[in-house]
Amino acid sequence: MRHFLDLHTLPPEELRGILTQAAAMKTARTGLPRGTVDDGAPFEGRMVALIFEKPSTRTRVSFDVGARQLGGQTLVLSGKDMQLGHGETIADTARVLSRYVDLIMIRTFEEQTLVELAAHSAVPVINGLTDASHPCQIMADILTFEEHRGPITGAKVVWAGDGNNVCTSFLHAAGQFGFDLTFTGPEVLDPNPDAVAFARGRGVTVTIERDPLKAAEGADLIVTDTWLSMHDPESARQRRHALLRPYQVNNALMAATGRETLFMHCLPAHRGEEATDTVMDGPHSVIFDEAENRLHAQKAIMRWCLRL
Ligand code: CP
Ligand code: NVA
Repeated sequence: MRHFLDLHTLPPEELRGILTQAAAMKTARTGLPRGTVDDGAPFEGRMVALIFEKPSTRTRVSFDVGARQLGGQTLVLSGKDMQLGHGETIADTARVLSRYVDLIMIRTFEEQTLVELAAHSAVPVINGLTDASHPCQIMADILTFEEHRGPITGAKVVWAGDGNNVCTSFLHAAGQFGFDLTFTGPEVLDPNPDAVAFARGRGVTVTIERDPLKAAEGADLIVTDTWLSMHDPESARQRRHALLRPYQVNNALMAATGRETLFMHCLPAHRGEEATDTVMDGPHSVIFDEAENRLHAQKAIMRWCLRL
């Protein structure tokens, strides 16, 4: 069975195949109304469950619209309204849902919940973000980079700020797609060492550079994310802001690259914190292309899971 759980556990050629299909499907529906079903309606008769234990705008809407564009039907479920939020085990939830639906996407807290759901599910499971990773986002980001700049292999990507779940998936992607990644942020928020080791093990260069201006030199892409993720306690806000302020993506940081560097942010953003409006709305920002490409990338991921 084909689960889509994390980028580092899948063969790189499968990931590349998904992106190739995503680009082709995007082109094929250029100019069509959003609700038009794709040619051949590959998900005709298929039911997709989307479970959210955390808030979401992009993931919720892009998976829902995507499954419908494929000709399938969807159920959007809130974890706290399910028995899952009231003590039913994840294993039993997986066994039950497998009797009703053909595919499950889950956004949850612990990575272990995702792993357990997949272990007990008779249908494929997709990771729609955990505390530890966000693989669908980075598939959309690679698609976006390549639309603007061509192959990402050999590029220099700079991650500025918190070495969080999205950063981990970027490191996995660095190893799988063959690009170098420089992390710039405070030591206490360094990226997951296993993800760093994975990327290095695949032969790419991962650099940790505390000086953001130095880190930015020669970057093809600068990426950042919120300073307080959904799983971080509110009590950490002040301390994190103080630690992360030097790593804000602003005009000075973009200029330090010395080139026409793309800017990405998975959104939602806290404008004026991790990135300024001038960068978010600037000429090299591709944040809304990233958001759109969630749709195209995830349609290809869902088709890959069901081999349709
Ligand atoms: N980028 C992203 O996953 O956004 P949502 O939290 O809105 O789904
Ligand atoms: N790092 C953020 C990403 C949101 C899409 C979070 O986990 O809240």
